[in-house]
Amino acid sequence: MDRKALYNLEYGVFLVSSRAGDAINACITNTCIQAAASPVRLAISCISGNYTPELIRESGLFTVSVLDTTADFELIRRFGMQSGRTVDKFAGFDYALDANGLPYLKDKANAVFSCKVTSAMELGSHTLFVGEVLDAAVLGSAPSLTYAKYQSDVKPRPRPKAEERPIIGWKCKICGYVYEGAVLPADFLCPLCAHPAEDFEPIYG
Ligand SMILES: Cc1cc2nc3c(=O)[nH]c(=O)nc-3n(C[C@H](O)[C@H](O)[C@H](O)COP(=O)(O)O)c2cc1C
Repeated sequence: MDRKALYNLEYGVFLVSSRAGDAINACITNTCIQAAASPVRLAISCISGNYTPELIRESGLFTVSVLDTTADFELIRRFGMQSGRTVDKFAGFDYALDANGLPYLKDKANAVFSCKVTSAMELGSHTLFVGEVLDAAVLGSAPSLTYAKYQSDVKPRPRPKAEERPIIGWKCKICGYVYEGAVLPADFLCPLCAHPAEDFEPIYG
């Protein structure tokens, strides 16, 4: 199997939230589809061991906020790169509550769906939840954020390795004097300690 074929599947980006008792939590997913039209049902796929699916199993409820193109990396980092088991992801965060008391995004999302679980299928790594949509609302007009757009425009690019970055200066290894400029003349002598160009090392941008 060529697993790269999977990269050619298209997705959106969502905030899936739940509540059980007083505990609220949410995570980012890239998996949500309309699975049926009558009654309207959504399907979402959650990493089985995560905290959000634990709350969904307990309450039988989940709410999906559809992220739009105004969503930023800070939002995705807050909900998608740490677990509600160790941090309160909603602390200091402005959110709204649906009729079941589940949190959803007040902004940076263009739609919200409140769902009641009708079936859950354990698939190994993930749990597939199918939910009947109890309520839905359009929240904004910005286009939905696609997973491809998240990868290309929202996710910060890894900083290139030092050697791949441009040289912006040279530092004297003997005294620390800094020469500003990409090219150090071959006959350059350090104005502080008089050591030659060979004793300088590059400073990368
Ligand atoms: C862009 C993106 C897409 C993600 N897609 C999924 C997904 O489809 N299903 C899932 O369970 N987790 C997905 N995650 C990972 C969860 O959001 C992450 O594991 C989160 O920390 C779980 O938090 P929790 O333990 O509080 O539920 C995704 C994360 C990111 C950043």
